[in-house]
Amino acid sequence: MIREASPRDLGWIAVLEEKCFPKYPYPRWFLAMLHSISPSLFLVYEADGRIIGYASTIIRRRIICHLMSLCVEPSMRRRGVGRALLDETERRSREAGCSTLRLEVSYVNMPALRLYSSLGYRPAYFKPGYYPGGEPALVMYKALLLGRDKL
Ligand SMILES: CC(C)(COP(=O)(O)OP(=O)(O)OC[C@H]1O[C@@H](n2cnc3c(N)ncnc32)[C@H](O)[C@@H]1OP(=O)(O)O)[C@@H](O)C(=O)NCCC(=O)NCCS
Repeated sequence: MIREASPRDLGWIAVLEEKCFPKYPYPRWFLAMLHSISPSLFLVYEADGRIIGYASTIIRRRIICHLMSLCVEPSMRRRGVGRALLDETERRSREAGCSTLRLEVSYVNMPALRLYSSLGYRPAYFKPGYYPGGEPALVMYKALLLGRDKL
């Protein structure tokens, strides 16, 4: 089940962040800030009463939605959770009036690159020194306009 996160979920989401991004997890205060910016785009995937994945998106310049984080509990991967979270994020982003969904991903993150490519995200450019370790990020976009996102 996908639902909006509540402030009470943030502790567990912070734990999930540490499991998913051991090198540079978002701290809890940053998660709280993301949640306060766009609560309807801060989603969790719950299974058997446990949060096993989450996706956080914020709206920039009214028409660009920016995926800030997406992660799935390591033991629950390859079951469609990441795709389901992204599908719902896209649906809500469209509803919120965004024409584009944008994200950053490490060019060595093969699972994420495959997921994004399979859903129609296109590489745009590299952002040097984006990650705390100094690695660049690949910026990807997807047009959310009706009919175009299936291309
Ligand atoms: C990226 C991530 C969110 C994917 O979540 P997931 O629930 O495992 O993804 P799904 O099961 O929905 O996979 C959907 C598609 O993505 C691709 N994919 C996902 N994991 C993959 C892997 N390990 N290897 C190759 N392709 C993969 C496949 O195309 C897959 O479709 P398929 O299973 O029909 O082949 C998850 O691996 C994760 O949390 N990684 C750590 C955090 C992270 O890197 N987040 C992204 C930051 S930009």
